Amino acid sequence: MPSVQEVLRTNIPYLDAMIEETFRYSHIVPFTTRETIVDTQLLGHRIPRGTQVLFVTSDESFLKPAFPISQAQRLLWANGRKSDYGEWAPSDIADFKPERWLRKEQIVVDGVTTEMEVFDQKAGPCLHLGAGPRGCFGRRLVYLEMRIAVTLLLWRFEFLEVGPELNSFDAIDTSTEEPKDCIVKIREIID
Ligand code: HEM
Repeated sequence: MPSVQEVLRTNIPYLDAMIEETFRYSHIVPFTTRETIVDTQLLGHRIPRGTQVLFVTSDESFLKPAFPISQAQRLLWANGRKSDYGEWAPSDIADFKPERWLRKEQIVVDGVTTEMEVFDQKAGPCLHLGAGPRGCFGRRLVYLEMRIAVTLLLWRFEFLEVGPELNSFDAIDTSTEEPKDCIVKIREIID
């Protein structure tokens, strides 16, 4: 088994992409919320001070094609920030596809240019841990634990296919989304 240090220090872009795609797909927290502290507007709609605004973390823009929004509807500030993140192509937005988080980057090592695959956390929208100064406080611990757990499980077990009747992304809604089915069929990998 690899040590925790090895798991955490090794650069494995596909592992990071797979974890990020799992979060995008499972949208564990269905929405985050903010209260407006001044009268404002969102996409042309007046929002008075003291309103609770919910930001859903699934469906349109995340797992379904985005609503059409004209640039004119957005505030100048929001238009400026939009290029910080990529957008998911409508054609495969609904697919579980870790590759969407990967891109090629030219890296120069000892004067030699090499093309490397890198993990890009800003490849597209994903709001599973919230955002900004009040975003999830446990963010670093979440990624740390996921990296360790996923690596050790995949190292030790082969995950076999389970039938479609036991294999859905259906969720039970509480304050978080809990999986309706959480059944795995495993075979131990013996060295
Ligand atoms: C997969 C696991 C987790 C998920 C999906 C998750 C998700 C979230 C979300 C969506 C928020 C709201 C962020 C916002 O409003 O922008 C939040 C806040 C928070 N989370 Fe997590 N979280 C996870 C694990 C953890 C862990 C392990 C800790 C502590 C070690 C933690 C501590 C907190 C705290 C303290 C806040 C409130 C931050 C604030 O209001 O300033 N979370 N989390």
